[in-house]
Amino acid sequence: MLMMETHFMQIKTAEFVTSASEVDESPDWAHPEVAFIGRSNVGKSSIINMLTGRHGLAKVSSTPGKTRLLNYFLINQQWGLVDLPGYGFAKASRADKERFNELVGDYLMTRAQLRHLFVLIDSRHSPQKIDMEFLSRLVDTDIAFSLAFTKTDKLNEKKSRANVREFLIAQSEVTGVEPATVMTSAKTRQGRNELLGMARKAMEL
Ligand code: GTP
Ligand code: MG
Repeated sequence: MLMMETHFMQIKTAEFVTSASEVDESPDWAHPEVAFIGRSNVGKSSIINMLTGRHGLAKVSSTPGKTRLLNYFLINQQWGLVDLPGYGFAKASRADKERFNELVGDYLMTRAQLRHLFVLIDSRHSPQKIDMEFLSRLVDTDIAFSLAFTKTDKLNEKKSRANVREFLIAQSEVTGVEPATVMTSAKTRQGRNELLGMARKAMEL
Protein backbone atom coordinates (compact mmCIF):
# COMPACT_ATOMS: atom_id res chain seq x y z
CA MET A 1 0.00 0.00 0.00
CA LEU A 2 2.70 2.45 1.02
CA MET A 3 4.72 1.42 -2.03
CA MET A 4 1.79 2.20 -4.30
CA GLU A 5 1.23 5.59 -2.71
CA THR A 6 4.86 6.52 -3.06
CA HIS A 7 4.79 5.44 -6.67
CA PHE A 8 1.67 7.50 -7.34
CA MET A 9 3.22 10.66 -5.88
CA GLN A 10 5.99 10.36 -8.41
CA ILE A 11 4.99 12.25 -11.51
CA LYS A 12 7.14 10.77 -14.25
CA THR A 13 5.36 12.36 -17.16
CA ALA A 14 2.84 15.20 -17.30
CA GLU A 15 1.75 16.34 -20.71
CA PHE A 16 -0.73 18.87 -21.96
CA VAL A 17 -3.09 17.00 -24.27
CA THR A 18 -5.73 19.40 -25.52
CA SER A 19 -7.98 22.37 -24.81
CA ALA A 20 -11.66 21.84 -25.49
CA SER A 21 -14.25 24.54 -26.09
CA GLU A 22 -16.97 21.87 -26.20
CA VAL A 23 -17.13 18.65 -24.19
CA ASP A 24 -17.21 16.79 -27.52
CA GLU A 25 -13.66 17.97 -28.21
CA SER A 26 -12.37 16.23 -25.06
CA PRO A 27 -9.90 13.32 -25.26
CA ASP A 28 -11.61 10.07 -26.00
CA TRP A 29 -9.48 8.09 -23.56
CA ALA A 30 -10.25 5.37 -21.05
CA HIS A 31 -8.22 7.01 -18.26
CA PRO A 32 -9.92 8.15 -15.06
CA GLU A 33 -9.81 11.89 -14.38
CA VAL A 34 -9.92 14.36 -11.54
CA ALA A 35 -10.90 17.97 -12.22
CA PHE A 36 -10.28 21.30 -10.50
CA ILE A 37 -12.89 23.99 -10.23
CA GLY A 38 -13.38 27.18 -8.25
CA ARG A 39 -13.75 30.90 -8.49
CA SER A 40 -11.65 32.63 -11.09
CA ASN A 41 -8.14 33.35 -9.73
CA VAL A 42 -8.48 30.89 -6.81
CA GLY A 43 -5.39 29.00 -8.01
CA LYS A 44 -6.65 26.07 -10.11
CA SER A 45 -3.91 26.27 -12.71
CA SER A 46 -1.25 26.87 -10.05
CA ILE A 47 -2.25 23.79 -8.08
CA ILE A 48 -1.96 21.65 -11.20
CA ASN A 49 1.56 22.95 -11.75
CA MET A 50 2.39 22.34 -8.09
CA LEU A 51 1.04 18.78 -8.13
CA THR A 52 2.88 17.86 -11.32
CA GLY A 53 6.03 19.82 -10.50
CA ARG A 54 5.88 21.36 -14.00
CA HIS A 55 5.81 25.11 -13.72
CA GLY A 56 4.51 26.23 -17.07
CA LEU A 57 2.20 23.27 -17.63
CA ALA A 58 -1.09 25.05 -16.86
CA LYS A 59 -1.20 28.76 -17.70
CA VAL A 60 -1.26 30.94 -14.60
CA SER A 61 -2.18 34.61 -14.54
CA SER A 62 -2.77 37.29 -11.96
CA THR A 63 -5.62 38.51 -14.19
CA PRO A 64 -8.79 36.51 -13.43
CA GLY A 65 -10.39 34.61 -16.28
CA LYS A 66 -7.21 33.11 -17.72
CA THR A 67 -8.52 29.58 -18.19
CA ARG A 68 -11.50 29.63 -20.51
CA LEU A 69 -11.46 26.14 -21.91
CA LEU A 70 -11.37 22.59 -20.56
CA ASN A 71 -7.64 21.86 -20.40
CA TYR A 72 -6.61 18.21 -20.28
CA PHE A 73 -3.33 16.88 -18.92
CA LEU A 74 -2.22 13.25 -18.97
CA ILE A 75 -0.18 12.07 -16.00
CA ASN A 76 2.11 9.04 -16.10
CA GLN A 77 0.21 7.89 -19.20
CA GLN A 78 -2.34 6.72 -16.68
CA TRP A 79 -4.73 9.35 -15.42
CA GLY A 80 -6.08 12.76 -16.34
CA LEU A 81 -6.05 16.16 -14.66
CA VAL A 82 -8.58 18.69 -15.92
CA ASP A 83 -8.22 22.44 -15.43
CA LEU A 84 -11.69 23.98 -15.70
CA PRO A 85 -12.61 27.63 -16.33
CA GLY A 86 -13.26 29.61 -13.15
CA TYR A 87 -16.73 30.70 -12.16
CA GLY A 88 -17.60 34.24 -11.22
CA PHE A 89 -15.26 36.10 -13.50
CA ALA A 90 -16.58 39.63 -12.93
CA LYS A 91 -15.34 41.17 -16.14
CA ALA A 92 -16.74 38.53 -18.47
CA SER A 93 -19.75 39.54 -20.50
CA ARG A 94 -23.06 37.93 -19.64
CA ALA A 95 -22.88 35.84 -22.82
CA ASP A 96 -19.37 34.65 -21.93
CA LYS A 97 -20.44 33.77 -18.39
CA GLU A 98 -23.32 31.73 -19.71
CA ARG A 99 -21.07 29.97 -22.17
CA PHE A 100 -18.53 29.02 -19.46
CA ASN A 101 -21.27 27.86 -17.10
CA GLU A 102 -22.66 25.73 -19.86
CA LEU A 103 -19.25 24.30 -20.75
CA VAL A 104 -18.45 23.42 -17.14
CA GLY A 105 -22.00 22.16 -16.59
CA ASP A 106 -21.80 19.91 -19.65
CA TYR A 107 -18.44 18.58 -18.54
CA LEU A 108 -19.67 17.82 -15.01
CA MET A 109 -22.89 16.22 -16.15
CA THR A 110 -21.64 14.14 -19.06
CA ARG A 111 -17.98 13.25 -18.66
CA ALA A 112 -17.91 9.55 -17.77
CA GLN A 113 -14.19 9.60 -16.99
CA LEU A 114 -14.62 12.12 -14.14
CA ARG A 115 -14.06 10.38 -10.79
CA HIS A 116 -13.61 13.30 -8.44
CA LEU A 117 -13.93 17.06 -8.37
CA PHE A 118 -11.70 19.26 -6.24
CA VAL A 119 -13.55 22.47 -5.42
CA LEU A 120 -10.95 25.12 -4.64
CA ILE A 121 -11.69 27.76 -2.03
CA ASP A 122 -9.45 30.73 -1.26
CA SER A 123 -8.36 30.35 2.38
CA ARG A 124 -7.89 34.12 2.74
CA HIS A 125 -11.56 34.99 2.63
CA SER A 126 -14.61 34.45 4.76
CA PRO A 127 -17.33 32.36 3.04
CA GLN A 128 -18.26 33.72 -0.40
CA LYS A 129 -21.76 33.54 -1.83
CA ILE A 130 -20.57 32.35 -5.22
CA ASP A 131 -18.88 29.27 -3.73
CA MET A 132 -22.01 28.43 -1.74
CA GLU A 133 -24.13 28.73 -4.86
CA PHE A 134 -21.85 26.40 -6.75
CA LEU A 135 -21.78 23.85 -3.91
CA SER A 136 -25.53 23.94 -3.50
CA ARG A 137 -25.90 22.98 -7.16
CA LEU A 138 -23.11 20.43 -6.99
CA VAL A 139 -24.72 18.39 -4.20
CA ASP A 140 -27.77 17.93 -6.40
CA THR A 141 -25.59 15.83 -8.70
CA ASP A 142 -23.88 12.61 -7.66
CA ILE A 143 -20.38 13.90 -8.36
CA ALA A 144 -17.90 13.03 -5.61
CA PHE A 145 -16.02 16.11 -4.44
CA SER A 146 -13.58 17.46 -1.86
CA LEU A 147 -12.68 20.98 -0.82
CA ALA A 148 -9.13 22.23 -1.33
CA PHE A 149 -8.35 25.49 0.44
CA THR A 150 -5.73 27.44 -1.49
CA LYS A 151 -3.04 30.09 -0.94
CA THR A 152 -2.42 29.15 2.71
CA ASP A 153 1.02 30.78 2.46
CA LYS A 154 -0.61 34.20 2.15
CA LEU A 155 -2.14 34.25 5.61
CA ASN A 156 -1.03 33.09 9.03
CA GLU A 157 -2.20 29.63 9.94
CA LYS A 158 -4.53 30.79 12.69
CA LYS A 159 -6.45 33.09 10.33
CA SER A 160 -6.70 30.60 7.48
CA ARG A 161 -7.89 27.90 9.90
CA ALA A 162 -10.55 30.29 11.20
CA ASN A 163 -11.72 30.99 7.63
CA VAL A 164 -11.83 27.29 6.89
CA ARG A 165 -13.84 26.56 10.02
CA GLU A 166 -16.31 29.30 9.14
CA PHE A 167 -16.55 28.04 5.56
CA LEU A 168 -17.19 24.45 6.63
CA ILE A 169 -20.04 25.51 8.91
CA ALA A 170 -21.60 27.67 6.19
CA GLN A 171 -21.22 25.01 3.52
CA SER A 172 -22.71 22.24 5.67
CA GLU A 173 -25.81 24.39 6.12
CA VAL A 174 -26.12 24.65 2.36
CA THR A 175 -25.08 21.16 1.29
CA GLY A 176 -25.90 18.98 4.30
CA VAL A 177 -22.69 17.00 3.71
CA GLU A 178 -19.19 17.11 5.15
CA PRO A 179 -16.71 16.71 2.31
CA ALA A 180 -13.05 15.86 2.85
CA THR A 181 -10.82 18.93 2.98
CA VAL A 182 -7.19 19.69 2.29
CA MET A 183 -5.12 22.81 2.92
CA THR A 184 -2.87 23.72 0.01
CA SER A 185 -0.30 26.20 -1.20
CA ALA A 186 1.15 26.24 -4.67
CA LYS A 187 4.04 28.20 -3.22
CA THR A 188 5.10 25.98 -0.30
CA ARG A 189 3.63 22.82 -1.87
CA GLN A 190 1.55 22.24 1.24
CA GLY A 191 -1.05 19.54 0.70
CA ARG A 192 0.60 18.00 -2.35
CA ASN A 193 0.88 14.43 -1.10
CA GLU A 194 -2.45 14.57 0.67
CA LEU A 195 -4.25 15.78 -2.43
CA LEU A 196 -2.54 13.24 -4.68
CA GLY A 197 -3.49 10.56 -2.18
CA MET A 198 -7.15 11.66 -2.33
CA ALA A 199 -7.01 11.63 -6.14
CA ARG A 200 -5.45 8.18 -6.25
CA LYS A 201 -8.09 6.78 -3.94
CA ALA A 202 -10.92 8.37 -5.92
CA MET A 203 -9.61 6.95 -9.19
CA GLU A 204 -8.94 3.54 -7.60
CA LEU A 205 -5.39 3.52 -8.98
P1 GTP B 1 -8.44 31.42 -13.77
O1 GTP B 1 -7.81 30.49 -14.78
O2 GTP B 1 -8.35 32.84 -14.18
O3 GTP B 1 -9.80 31.01 -13.38
O4 GTP B 1 -7.55 31.38 -12.42
P2 GTP B 1 -6.91 30.13 -11.66
O5 GTP B 1 -7.89 29.65 -10.63
O6 GTP B 1 -6.38 29.11 -12.59
O7 GTP B 1 -5.72 30.82 -10.83
P3 GTP B 1 -4.16 30.83 -11.17
O8 GTP B 1 -3.56 29.50 -10.88
O9 GTP B 1 -3.94 31.41 -12.54
O10 GTP B 1 -3.62 31.82 -10.03
C1 GTP B 1 -4.10 33.14 -9.89
C2 GTP B 1 -3.07 33.99 -9.17
O11 GTP B 1 -2.89 33.53 -7.83
C3 GTP B 1 -1.67 33.95 -9.81
O12 GTP B 1 -1.09 35.21 -9.70
C4 GTP B 1 -0.93 32.92 -8.96
O13 GTP B 1 0.47 33.11 -8.96
C5 GTP B 1 -1.52 33.17 -7.59
N1 GTP B 1 -1.51 31.95 -6.76
C6 GTP B 1 -2.13 30.78 -7.03
N2 GTP B 1 -1.95 29.88 -6.05
C7 GTP B 1 -1.16 30.48 -5.12
C8 GTP B 1 -0.62 30.07 -3.86
O14 GTP B 1 -0.80 28.95 -3.37
N3 GTP B 1 0.13 30.99 -3.19
C9 GTP B 1 0.37 32.25 -3.66
N4 GTP B 1 1.10 33.08 -2.92
N5 GTP B 1 -0.15 32.67 -4.85
C10 GTP B 1 -0.89 31.81 -5.57
MG1 MG C 1 -6.57 28.95 -14.60
